[in-house]
Amino acid sequence: MEKNLIFHGSDVPALAEKYGTPLYVMSIDDIRQRCAEIRVSFTDKYENTVAAFACKAFQTLEMIRLIKEEGLSLDIVSGGELYAALKAGFDPAHIGFHGNAKTPRELREALDAGVGTIIVDNFSELELLNRLALERGICQGILLRVTPGVDSHTHLYIATGNLDSKFGFSVPEIKKTVFEQVREMKGVDLKGFHYHVGSQLTENNSHIMATGIMLDLLANLKVRFGYVPRELNCGGGFGIRYADYPERSAVSTFMDPVMDMINSFYRESGDPRPTVIIEPGRWIVGEAGITVYEVSSVKTNAAGRHYAGVNGGLSDNPRTALYDAKYEVAAADKMDQPWDTLTTIAGKCCESGDIIAYDVMLPKMEIGDLLAVYSTGAYNYSMAGNYNRLPRPAVVMIENGEDHLSVRRETYEDMIEREL
Ligand SMILES: Cc1ncc(COP(=O)(O)O)c(C=O)c1O
Repeated sequence: MEKNLIFHGSDVPALAEKYGTPLYVMSIDDIRQRCAEIRVSFTDKYENTVAAFACKAFQTLEMIRLIKEEGLSLDIVSGGELYAALKAGFDPAHIGFHGNAKTPRELREALDAGVGTIIVDNFSELELLNRLALERGICQGILLRVTPGVDSHTHLYIATGNLDSKFGFSVPEIKKTVFEQVREMKGVDLKGFHYHVGSQLTENNSHIMATGIMLDLLANLKVRFGYVPRELNCGGGFGIRYADYPERSAVSTFMDPVMDMINSFYRESGDPRPTVIIEPGRWIVGEAGITVYEVSSVKTNAAGRHYAGVNGGLSDNPRTALYDAKYEVAAADKMDQPWDTLTTIAGKCCESGDIIAYDVMLPKMEIGDLLAVYSTGAYNYSMAGNYNRLPRPAVVMIENGEDHLSVRRETYEDMIEREL
């Protein structure tokens, strides 16, 4: 085996030498490959379908341009994500704006930018949006976000489709009052509905159950009001590989049964089938990214646990502390040595929960060694902060074995720049 870890054709220690650590490394080839797979297994396979990238997973200007090149739409959740998307030249008509607590300012920004779809989460947002749209003399295309009331087998903090979720309207609420109220509002055009049951799902049963509930709702609205939606957005949530889940799920595992249900529903009703939309985030970028750290301490504590401490952690990857994410790791400059030492990888932040990986087998790590953490392309850079005044790492993009700096490393000066 080679001594150095090669990631999508790039020598990882050479990248660490060139750009420093901690370092996010993202493979453009891998991202393009995922987009191609989405075309094959969804958008080209089924007519009248759209795939959007949920850019909360990883948003940089370069990433937005890449998504534009790949022909996907964009799902955003804030005025900041909208601002960056517009700066990167993304067509607002192909943007869907989510969020359970959009501010009046964000709604105004979305309306003024001409965002194609606003996914409305609750009644107070609906009333406000209607008023703001009327003030502007426009009729804004919207979807209503529905909480279908299914439990998904994932961590509570990334489950979103259960009845006690903070997201969306319940089905009874829509049937009883909201549908009729929306239809009376002249500032919004109800294009259809949205549901997203959770993230990092490895089984398709929540998608299937939720789709059944949505189709029941649509059948009810058809019978009572003759309403047929133009769009149905089934969300994202497709699982990828982490240490506790051995392989990435296929989009078709989720969407083939869902499309069968939707297609047969519309075949039977004779109505035109709405455009079916998916919005994966993690699935597109998660495995495309690794984080490279340098070991800055080694020790064995009184309980006998052996630690390698690294020069980053919670500040660049809060997912372990937030929902107990499990990562695979590699000794990037010692791949050829025996992986014989049980090691816990500790982040450097002052939180006991700042552990990147518990009890993994690695070669004996020493100060200055390099450690690569896999599947950090999603919800790492985008969730990073400055806890303990740690500067955010640089982002390097690699393609065909070539590398370039996409986001420069934050400096100490950057971190105090806004302080008056
Ligand atoms: C509404 C919505 N759509 C899409 C996503 C993307 O999920 P994932 O990255 O798991 O595909 C999320 C994630 O939180 C979401 O809330």
